[in-house]
Parts: sequence; C-alpha cells; structure tokens
Amino acid sequence: MTAPAVDLTVHHRPKGLSDRVAYGFVKALRFCADTFFAKRYGHRAVVLETVAAVPGMVGATLNHLKCLRRMEDDRGWIKTLMDEAENERMHLMTFIEVCKPTLFERFVVVAVQWVFYLFFFGLYLVSSKTAHRVVGYFEEEAVISYTHYLAEIDEGRSANVPAPEIAKRYWALSADATLRDVVLVVRADEAHHRDVNHGFANEIAGLPVTETAPCPPHEVLQPNWKAAA
Ligand SMILES: [Fe+2]
Ligand SMILES: [Fe+2]
Repeated sequence: MTAPAVDLTVHHRPKGLSDRVAYGFVKALRFCADTFFAKRYGHRAVVLETVAAVPGMVGATLNHLKCLRRMEDDRGWIKTLMDEAENERMHLMTFIEVCKPTLFERFVVVAVQWVFYLFFFGLYLVSSKTAHRVVGYFEEEAVISYTHYLAEIDEGRSANVPAPEIAKRYWALSADATLRDVVLVVRADEAHHRDVNHGFANEIAGLPVTETAPCPPHEVLQPNWKAAA
C-alpha cells in the first residue's frame, strides 16, 4: 500500500468569531509544542498523538448520547469519529515503537489528558461547531509537522529506520517499508481527519462541505489484535 497524495495547501480561512477562537487556540498550542519539542519529531509524535486520540472519542460519545435522547439517526458521524479515535491511537502505538518518551513526557501526557479531556468535553457541549473546527485546525498543523518530519528523514537528520511491525500490518505496508513510508501514511490519515472535521464544522454552520482527502485503508482491529500476524 502506498500513501495517497496529500494536498498540503488546504486551509480553512477563519470565518466569524467561533473560527477565530478555534484558530487562535490551535496556533497558541502550536507555539507551546514548538517550544517544548523543537525538532524532536519522534517525541512530538508520541506525546501529541495521545492528545489527538481524545476528540474523536468525545465527539462520538456526545453524538451517541444525543441520538439516544432525540431518538434520531447519526448520519454516520459516530462511527466516523470512533474510527478517528482508533486511528490516532494506532499512530501512538506506531510511534511508541520508534521513540520512547522520557519520564517527564509521560507525566505531561497524564496531566494534559486530564485537562484536555475535560476542556474538550465542555467545549463540545457548548459549541460542537467550534470543537470540530479546533480539530480541523489541529489536523492542519499535524499535516505540517509530519511534512517537517519527512524533511528531517530525507535530509538525514532522523534515521530512516525499518517500519515497526504494527505499522506494516495496520497499513498493509510492504515487508521492507521504512519510517518514511509510515510518516507518509500517517500524514495522509491526518489530512483525512482535517477535511472530515472541517466538513463537520461546515455542516453545523450551514456552509458548503468541501472535498475530503481519501483515507488510507486500515486493517480492521479484532479482539486480541496483535501487531505480528
Ligand atoms: Fe495522528
Ligand atoms: Fe490527527
């Protein structure tokens, strides 16, 4: 499997206060991440993927509960959001094979999860449109970060190690796949999440839903799923 091409130019121009708040928030977090991680892309991926896997599960939970209360159809949103959460968790399980977080980073992950889960849950209750816009902008930044990671590998500053077994199986990569192939499919996943979440925000706002980047095919996880088949 080779990664689908990614349009790196996609950006939702903020329209209105909700979009501006979402964009400003994400840019502030980007500044914090750049300061904290600098060019340690492996560490950055491990820590930030633990955060990236939260919104999909929050959105799925709250939409699930809303559909139960209103006794109405979800139009495919719940499964889409759960798939996003699972996909982000698989990014984490992949990068943990490439780079081990420091003890301090593990502490940051635990602390940030408390704050971010509660914050995002509250935001989704107050404005699901802003919440999806925040994720759309997060994913725009993720596409940029993984593009930088690719440049690090291509220019020899990060070793292009063999792809972890878990990644080869999950994305059906070739036996000789490398970290570069993994970053390419992860970036394609992020581009897909970016367009899906901007699309959801647009739908809530009554704006036209723009095109969605294709999602690379993933192995369906079954009970007792293991990296090595
Ligand atoms: Fe991710
Ligand atoms: Fe993502």
